[in-house]
Formats: sequence, structure tokens, C-alpha cells
Amino acid sequence: MEPRESKERVATANSVRCSDELTVTYRRKRVFSLAAKRNRRVAFGGFQAPNSRSGPAERATGVSGGQGKMAARRILVTGAAGFIGSHVAEALLKRGDHVVGLDNFDDFYSFATKQRNIMRCMSSENYELIHGDIRDPRLLADVFSRHKFDAIVHLAARAGVRPSITEPALYDDVNVVGTTRILQAAQVHGVPHVVFGSSSSVYGATSVPPFRETDVADRPSSPYAATKRANELACYAHHHLYGTTISCLRFFTVYGPRQRPEMAIHKFTRLIDKGEQVTLYGNGTTRRDYTYVEDIAEGIISAVGNPNGYRIYNLGTTDTTALLDLVGMIASRLEKPLLVIHRDDQPGDVPMTHADISLAANELGYAPKVDIREGVDRFVSWYRSVNRSADSLAPRLAHAPSMIDLTHPSESVSEVAV
Ligand SMILES: NC(=O)c1ccc[n+]([C@@H]2O[C@H](COP(=O)([O-])OP(=O)(O)OC[C@H]3O[C@@H](n4cnc5c(N)ncnc54)[C@H](O)[C@@H]3O)[C@@H](O)[C@H]2O)c1
Repeated sequence: MEPRESKERVATANSVRCSDELTVTYRRKRVFSLAAKRNRRVAFGGFQAPNSRSGPAERATGVSGGQGKMAARRILVTGAAGFIGSHVAEALLKRGDHVVGLDNFDDFYSFATKQRNIMRCMSSENYELIHGDIRDPRLLADVFSRHKFDAIVHLAARAGVRPSITEPALYDDVNVVGTTRILQAAQVHGVPHVVFGSSSSVYGATSVPPFRETDVADRPSSPYAATKRANELACYAHHHLYGTTISCLRFFTVYGPRQRPEMAIHKFTRLIDKGEQVTLYGNGTTRRDYTYVEDIAEGIISAVGNPNGYRIYNLGTTDTTALLDLVGMIASRLEKPLLVIHRDDQPGDVPMTHADISLAANELGYAPKVDIREGVDRFVSWYRSVNRSADSLAPRLAHAPSMIDLTHPSESVSEVAV
């Protein structure tokens, strides 16, 4: 599939207008598209593109992530309007870095949700958002020639195991072609370090928990997992050929405020809060290593500050939670009854994910702080705070199918005490 042309945007000093969607006013504008750039004189008027190529003094070398007084870096975050990307961009800005976000606002879930995700970033002087596609070489050439990046945090992807089974070619196109384009741009423009958002799904159903980075990981259970493993291998080839330091971070089921609306914790919270039935695939004993998004963001920032040749790191918690316990926790926190429907396992699902995080702990100082109970508490508080908006998203979830439509003749419904 050819990359879609960026939506035409008209940029003014105080607003961003998308030609076919809503108009949002920001305090400070940093959004433009390739289309806008091509008409820069018209689109920008007297607007000077911020954060043009940084001087050497501004570029940090060998800084460690997260804390203390450190030199500001210029970092490209792809997928910046998404769940994890928006948290990472915020954390980098808080640290004092300059962030250029790149996102095509794909239709996996609603545009309005992604706009909300970036609201905080948009108020920073040090943030620029580019509306464009990682598969678009002309756009990348433009972005990379205007900025000298110290590192790339590459998170843009088509995410989600189940929908990848119905749209494998789309996943290949976005994840494989897109990542190749980003790596190529990094090479051409001499970006020294890339941090890539990989996934625990690469371990498949055959790895023995707890999963270690040295496990073979050549039996992916879904097209999505296969694209992520292919990306890791492409990263290695790139490192081998060009010497770029690359850290592939295998995230284990990330949750927290702004979690994608089709993901389990978000979806279960929405259903239980409305008093609706929750469908559990399998008997509820599948286990996941749920990782709070702030811990993931800290791990990513530590990886940005600690280039180590080519590395793969697990970012999980080492703790696992059974599905039935998870929905129980959510219902209990919401103080609502839990109605469960059991159905057969879904294709692509794996029985357990469980991270061994010793490598990330030793080399990155990675130390997750938020356990599942506290994380669910925080998630539910966030959900309640945006409840009205979340409700209005429900009809749009048709764009983000999390379930494959299968016929399940043997379903049973039960009420579970919480
Ligand atoms: N959320 C998790 O639990 C989890 C687990 C493992 C790995 N990951 C990986 O982490 C990354 C972020 O995941 P997320 O949960 O924040 O997903 P997300 O869908 O919220 O974020 C991905 C962002 O990438 C953007 N995007 C998609 N295709 C693009 C393209 N062609 N060009 C530019 N931007 C594009 C989307 O618009 C979206 O904003 C992904 O690479 C995902 O595979 C996530």
C-alpha cells in the first residue's frame, strides 16, 4: 500500500485546522504536514519552523535518562500521538529535551482521542508535531534535513494482535516498511541511536516463562508478532552495517491513562462501568505481565540515555495477573457487579507473558514501580475523569476491532462475586 498523503492542514499562529475534521485551538502551534510544508509561505506566513538543526553544544552525549541536570537532546518520537508515544514525549519534555513528534493519526482509533493525548505536549515551547506517515520518504527527508536528531524513539506502528490476523498486509506495510524507512532515514542523516518499541508478543506461545531476551523467539503467534520480530532483525542488520546503536524494547502489555480503547483494561473498565457483560476468551486463567505506562516511559528514556551497541531489553514487571483476577480488580475498584461470558480462546492469543527484566535492570537501571493494584486504581481514576469523553468514543470503536468475529456455540454466562 502506498503511504497516504498527509491530511491537508492549515497552520496559523494559534490554531490547527484539519480540513475534513474538527478544528482545535492550541495555545502554541507546532503542527504541520508535508502538504503544509510544500506551501510553506502560504501555510506558515511569518512562522519560523522551530527547533531547526541544533548546534553541537545542544546535543547530549552519553547522558543517562530521567533525572538530574543533563544536556537537552533533540529526539524524534514516532507514534507521538498514541498511547505510549504521548507519555514518552511528555516525559522527555519534562526532562528538558526537544521533541519532534511524528504521527499520521491513523484510523485504528479516533482522531479526537489522539488529539487529547497530545494536548499537554502542545503547550510546550520544545515540542513540534508533524502530521505525516513514516512510510513517506519525502516527508522523512524533509523532517531529517530540518533537524539533527540525537536519537529516535520509534513507536509508530499498527498495534494489536487480533486485528493483525484480519489485516496482515496492512500490518506488514506499516510496521515493516515503515520501520525500514525510519532506519534508512537514520542512516542517511547520521542519527546515532534508535530506540525501537518491540513487543513481548515475539515470544509466541512456545517460549518458557519467564521470557528472556536470549530465547529464540522464532515462533510468533500472529502477524503482528511476526512484524515486530522482523523489525528487531532489521534493526540488527542496520546496526551491523552502519554501527548505529539500537535498543529494541519488548514491552509487556502496557496500561495506564490513555490506553488504547480496544485494549483489555480499558475495554473491561468501560463495559463493567456500564453494567454490561465482559467476554473472556478462555477460562480466565491466561496471565499477563501488565506494565504501567509511566514505568515503560522511564525505561524508554533510560534506553535513550544508555546506548549499548545492539540490545534487546524486556520491559515488564516480572509479576503476572490472571485475566479473571484482573476483571475482578476492575469491578471491585468501580464498585460494580461483574458479569462474565466465557468463550473459546482467540487465535493469536498466548497463555502467558512473563518478563525476566534483569538485563534492563542491570544495564538501564530499569525498576518498575507501579504494581497492578495501584495501576488499576490509577487507571480507573483516569477513566472516571474522562468518562464522558470515553463514552462518546464507543461508537467509533468499530474502527478498532479487538475481536475476531467467530461463532462460539458453547458460551456460558456467569456472575462473579468481587
Ligand atoms: N500498548 C502495548 O501494550 C504495547 C505492547 C507492546 C508493544 N507496543 C508497541 O508500542 C508502540 C506504541 O503502541 P501504543 O499502544 O501506544 O499504540 P497506539 O496505536 O496508541 O500508538 C501508535 C501511534 O502510531 C501512529 N501511527 C500508526 N501508523 C503510522 C504511520 N504509518 N506513520 C506515522 N504514525 C503512525 C498511530 O496514529 C498512533 O498514534 C507500537 O509500536 C506498539 O506495537 C505496545
